[in-house]
Amino acid sequence: MNNFTFYAPTLFAFGDGEEKNTGALVRRFGGSKVLLVYGGGSVKKNGAYDAVTSSLNQAEISYVELSGIQANPRSGKVYEGIELCRKEGVDFLLALGGGSVIDTAKAIGMGVGYDGDFWDFFTGKAPITTSLPVGTVLTISAAGSEGSDSCVITQEAGNLKWGCPKSDAIRPKFSILNPRYTCSLPAYQTASGAVDMLAHICERYFTNTADVALTDRLCEALMRTVVDAAPRAIANPDDYAARADLMWTGMLAHNNSCGVGRDQDWASHQMEHELSAFYDCAHGAGLAVVMPAWMEYVLPHNPMRFAQFAQCVFGCEMDFACPERTAREGVERLRAFFRSLGMPTTFAEIGADPKDIPAMVAHRAEKPGGFPFGGFVKIGPDEMESILRLAAR
Ligand code: NZQ
Ligand code: ZN
Repeated sequence: MNNFTFYAPTLFAFGDGEEKNTGALVRRFGGSKVLLVYGGGSVKKNGAYDAVTSSLNQAEISYVELSGIQANPRSGKVYEGIELCRKEGVDFLLALGGGSVIDTAKAIGMGVGYDGDFWDFFTGKAPITTSLPVGTVLTISAAGSEGSDSCVITQEAGNLKWGCPKSDAIRPKFSILNPRYTCSLPAYQTASGAVDMLAHICERYFTNTADVALTDRLCEALMRTVVDAAPRAIANPDDYAARADLMWTGMLAHNNSCGVGRDQDWASHQMEHELSAFYDCAHGAGLAVVMPAWMEYVLPHNPMRFAQFAQCVFGCEMDFACPERTAREGVERLRAFFRSLGMPTTFAEIGADPKDIPAMVAHRAEKPGGFPFGGFVKIGPDEMESILRLAAR
């Protein structure tokens, strides 16, 4: 196990009805004037908006609103939010929704006090040292932004979908997780979220670091939970127990509790960000296409690790004479699992065109330090092209 520092000081309030504490939590973390950030309206239909605003009113906290945040959030809303915060004297950002809403709030938070373009934080021109405090009320189990130290925004000038450098300054001060609000999710978004969680765990699980037995077991427990709970939540959207398991797994999958002390990979995420930049697909859907292809490509690097994945997550029987056979079975079981959830697993199914592959590789190269990426196997432009071609078969 490698040395590590783990500092993840978000307060989590978990369970049905916990959003009634929103106002009190905003006060506890120093907020008196809130920017309430949300998306295209799901929170008005499922009651989350009413519950949260009534808690703010009860706590006598005034708020202004920024709505209409799209999935794969764009820079335009970040600029708009920064201006609004300055004009209204906002001192606290409250994100009500999923990763796209939370990431927009985080980006606004880092930009308000900065005398320049917030995108400077993404290009590395300016370090992220401070932010307005951010709180979240989560309505979809997926991205893990409710406990993470990063955010992903698409800069419209250049269509660049980039994550910002990690910073504790933007970790949410609190996150309220009521599984009940995720019951209104369409099956496709539930499935997409399950894929994203599995990907966050796999990005950590496939490592070259030795002696990581404890975090291996944590990763396997989380992955098995997703494989068990996601089909139940899709079959019966009101299954509270399944929704609750997914919600806490999504957080644990990405606040790094299962990734400490080991080198991590993140190649699938880097490639998926090009897919969602080019085709505006759901992040989880893009991962369902690219991650099994990445696995096939890098499997010869360490077949035993993939065989362990097959055995411990999908219960495949170990073929001791040929562990590579077990390893390949595990990848196929993962792909079949994605399909069983109704997720796409090919380029065509997300409307992607193999002719765009060279353009995606070139686009990736525009990112500072864009190549190589991947901690398990180094991925350069040629390898990225080969993996995308596997996904395009
Ligand atoms: O806009 P509304 O109407 O709210 O609809 C949303 C949206 O269309 C809908 N939704 C959310 N909660 C709902 C609901 N519909 C019905 N009932 C509910 N309870 O779901 C759609 C997707 O929402 P979004 O916030 O985009 O989903 P997700 O949480 O998957 O976030 C994806 C974004 O997060 C980024 C992704 O790249 C993508 O941009 N990521 C952020 C990370 C981070 N900050 O740590 C890490 C991840 O790897 C990921 O890259
Ligand atoms: Zn992700």
